[in-house]
Amino acid sequence: MKVRVDADTCVGCAACEGICPEVFEMTDEDKAIVKVDPVPTEHEDACQEAAEQCPVDAISVEAD
Ligand code: F3S
Repeated sequence: MKVRVDADTCVGCAACEGICPEVFEMTDEDKAIVKVDPVPTEHEDACQEAAEQCPVDAISVEAD
């Protein structure tokens, strides 16, 4: 599974990092980046959850 953050849409709420810190990381500009690609199987559920919880739908998830 692949996950992407649209930096233009991200408002830096950091919910994704809170839900799945193994995959999402906040930059100094308060944008989330994806640090593991593809997403390890054990973190897929958390990534899906993060995508659902993002208030501005900046996270897109792509199944393999
Ligand atoms: Fe940005 Fe959404 Fe994460 S606003 S910091 S991608 S939860």
